[in-house]
Amino acid sequence: MKRDQLMLLVSGVLSLLALGWATQRNASPGYLEYQAEFRILVEEQLGPEKAAAVPAGVQQIWVEPASRVDRCISCHLGVTWAGLDDAPEPFRSHPTGPLENHPIEKFGCTLCHGGQGSATGLKDAHGWIKHWEDPLLDSQLAEDYKIPEPYAFMEMKCNTCHRFDREVEGMSRLNLAKQIVNEKGCRACHTINSRGGTIGPDLTDIGDKHPEQYDFERLTNFPSVFNWQVGHLQDPKAYTSDSIMPNFGLKTDEAQAVTMLMLSWRKHDVPLELLPITGLKDEPTEAEAAREKMMLEGDGRFFVENTCFICHDVSSLGIFSATKIGPDLAQAAEDVPRRFGRTLEDFLANPSGTMAVVLSKQIILTDEDKAEAARLMHLAYEKFKQQKADAEKETDAATSTVPASDGEPASQTHEN
Ligand code: HEC
Ligand code: HEC
Ligand code: HEC
Ligand code: HEC
Ligand code: HEC
Repeated sequence: MKRDQLMLLVSGVLSLLALGWATQRNASPGYLEYQAEFRILVEEQLGPEKAAAVPAGVQQIWVEPASRVDRCISCHLGVTWAGLDDAPEPFRSHPTGPLENHPIEKFGCTLCHGGQGSATGLKDAHGWIKHWEDPLLDSQLAEDYKIPEPYAFMEMKCNTCHRFDREVEGMSRLNLAKQIVNEKGCRACHTINSRGGTIGPDLTDIGDKHPEQYDFERLTNFPSVFNWQVGHLQDPKAYTSDSIMPNFGLKTDEAQAVTMLMLSWRKHDVPLELLPITGLKDEPTEAEAAREKMMLEGDGRFFVENTCFICHDVSSLGIFSATKIGPDLAQAAEDVPRRFGRTLEDFLANPSGTMAVVLSKQIILTDEDKAEAARLMHLAYEKFKQQKADAEKETDAATSTVPASDGEPASQTHEN
């Protein structure tokens, strides 16, 4: 069943295991019939001269740097032919877009599609067989998961090479997922490509986690790694009851995109020659690097380490929450006395409302921790006031440099 195959797809060991199968498969060539059929098709559509040029026998592409041999073109004879856009598979012309940057002579087929390149029988070649862990990511798979674009899952294969590119044409889903991972601050808790926090597990090779390591009991749809990940992202507590991972309110298509991205994060064996030179490393932008540094090393790291930032910004210390369930703690030193008529220290010792639950069930702080939290919130408030004053000075400076012009209505700044 294909569902099980997707579980296999994300399991650890890579494809080289199947060496011993080659001889067996060659004994059952299905491709000869397709070649005969193709010749008839070409004769009908393009004339007898072209038909005579149809190759016979096993056809293959030797992807030397990857030590792969892809024999898909033994049946998929039309891929490089023009004028067969409406032919039935396996005879159709290949869409030209993807091949512009990746000529098949160099890339073969399976690095993008999956499947078992050395095989020439249908089932074996498409890899929907036991013990083949890199099956063809075909339209049926997308259909099984009710994903409208037939080749959506292929983006996972694209990302084995384009992992460190932020935005790549033809990878709309994973482009979105990469944006979500940055915006939601997954790295505050998770290390990804050696950058990030340690509150949650390292996700760098999460795609290699074996299906047997998952607990599928809570799944209400069919048990697969893909469904587990989508479900967990949308409601972490339903899967790990004491999880402190926030529910980011991701829509299903967003959670599916992030899942595809995560499952593409595997150790792989693509040789350097076939990797884009643009991105061999995960480089944060300057702003991202600064933000990550603030979160993990700045004055506010207490609020990350103790997971307050799941619900609270501490904006003046550079701490940002993806959920913003509680108020910005940059102003708590002023806000708490005003709202509750108590000092911050007193509020933390005897919290009320949501914080009473949080501090008794979810985050257990020692007295020293509480003192430290209060100290940092006072510091945050000082910085908040300072930043506000600086910002006002800046806007004042900016408005005063605007030249007065006669025809303009009176400046809005004097309004109350
Ligand atoms: C024995 C002949 C044969 C071989 C070898 C073969 N294919 Fe196919 N392929 C077919 C046929 C027939 C179809 C159409 C029916 C189907 O999808 O099962 C097809 C369909 C496809 C499709 C479209 C599937 C979809 O989503 O509808 C893709 C993509 C594909 N093949 C890729 C490959 C790749 C990559 C290889 C090499 C690893 C390969 N094929 C090897 C016969 C073959
Ligand atoms: C750079 C990656 C890449 C390589 C290399 C590649 N393909 Fe594709 N292939 C794609 C993408 C992407 C699509 C889907 C295009 C779309 O639907 O717009 C596709 C579509 C297909 C289809 C379905 C065509 C259709 O019109 O539905 C078949 C069959 C196929 N490829 C076979 C092959 C074979 C055989 C090879 C090797 C000779 C190969 N591809 C090499 C990326 C690739
Ligand atoms: C085996 C590795 C590999 C796979 C798989 C792969 N690519 Fe590429 N891709 C490359 C290389 C190498 C280049 C050339 C870039 C360069 O010269 O630095 C490239 C270039 C590109 C480019 C143009 C340059 C850019 O970065 O904008 C696009 C777009 C692209 N690939 C999209 C895709 C898509 C979509 C897929 C999946 C269907 C895919 N690639 C699969 C290796 C790969
Ligand atoms: C506040 C900290 C925190 C943030 C932020 C966070 N996570 Fe997690 N995550 C955890 C913890 C703790 C676990 C382990 C408990 C669990 O499975 O829920 C976890 C587990 C996971 C797992 C399961 C890992 C495994 O080995 O089973 C995945 C996948 C995951 N997170 C992805 C993400 C993604 C993607 C994001 C960003 C959209 C994110 N997390 C944001 C704390 C966090
Ligand atoms: C699960 C979400 C959650 C977590 C985690 C959390 N808080 Fe809160 N916190 C809230 C909510 C919601 C409020 C607002 C409650 C109200 O207005 O009654 C709040 C209010 C506060 C207040 C009062 C702020 C004000 O301006 O009135 C302080 C101080 C505070 N939290 C500190 C912390 C600290 C320190 C941590 C980490 C040790 C923390 N919180 C963790 C949800 C959370």
